[in-house]
Amino acid sequence: MENEIKRLEEELQRDFQEVKSPKDLETLKIKYLGRKSTFTQLFSRIPTLAKEERGVWGKKLNAFKQKITSLLEDKTIQVKNKQEKIDLTPPSVSLEVGSRHILSTVSTKICSIFEKLGFTIIEGNEIEEEWYNFEALNIPLEHPSREAFDTFYLNIPEKNQGKYLLRSHTSPSQIRVMQDAKPPLAVISPGRVYRPDEVDATHSFMFHQIEGFVVDEDINFAHLKGVLLHFAHEFFSTDVELRFRPHFFPFTEPSAEVDISCIICKSGINKLKKGQKCSVCKGKGWLEILGCGMIHPKVLKACGIDPKKYKGFAFGMGVERIAMLKYSIDDIRLFYENDVRFLEQFSL
Ligand code: PHE
Repeated sequence: MENEIKRLEEELQRDFQEVKSPKDLETLKIKYLGRKSTFTQLFSRIPTLAKEERGVWGKKLNAFKQKITSLLEDKTIQVKNKQEKIDLTPPSVSLEVGSRHILSTVSTKICSIFEKLGFTIIEGNEIEEEWYNFEALNIPLEHPSREAFDTFYLNIPEKNQGKYLLRSHTSPSQIRVMQDAKPPLAVISPGRVYRPDEVDATHSFMFHQIEGFVVDEDINFAHLKGVLLHFAHEFFSTDVELRFRPHFFPFTEPSAEVDISCIICKSGINKLKKGQKCSVCKGKGWLEILGCGMIHPKVLKACGIDPKKYKGFAFGMGVERIAMLKYSIDDIRLFYENDVRFLEQFSL
């Protein structure tokens, strides 16, 4: 019996340490003093003891009961005090922190790469005059892009340089800058452009481009390649390679379209295994990222720059396309729907 009381006492101390709520206390009360408790069982054993022991054990057990009762009382006061503490902290207001749109982030990142090379960032005009969007860029009247279904013309009475329109590319920025400032020039010009395209997963009537150009004496195609390779390494990864494919733009000669080796399967560098097809480059190994070339002498001339003395290169890239490649986004419409579940993923 002695040992049993001792064990019970130890257990009791341990249990009391754990008490946190009035409910815990109630459970302990039942455990130690309830009808089925070890204590009650010990008590019921008294009549079975030798006569002279009964009184001794009766006293011991009563003292023990006293102990449990006072422990329970103390603990009740403690728990009550704790519970009555008033928490004056005001409930927190959950603030939705906004973030920059992924297109802004990507555009800023691209521009900053060129800025570090010494390019100046300028903003062109979204509403342009026909001459800046076309003629000055050596795009003649009969060119298909001048048809009404390829350009948004505006219903504003024309002034000096032809009809007003929503620019269909950022290249008019070249003209605006070259008319006002003289070489050496290194300019980067981001902004919105508009084309009456049917909207689908890869087309939108409005999207973003970044135009870049350099004009100076002795500028050649190797400078263009070097600058673009630096950009690709900084923006995508240092193991990316570039491929220049001959192309035609009226405002550059020679012109090229530039591909990067697929950033997903890297098969531009390492050939894929037989039968394997990359879902991004569709097994081609290359992804088109921009158009470029040496500025056409006629364009320099239209801006009052002597093409015999000065040469230049220019390039133009689509921000949505670059962002889609970089982050494996498969639908351009996601950029404009402003679904926070999409946007939140890019709160960098
Ligand atoms: N303006 C061209 C386009 O919109 C891109 C480009 C810019 C190509 C500069 C060559 C040089 O497709």
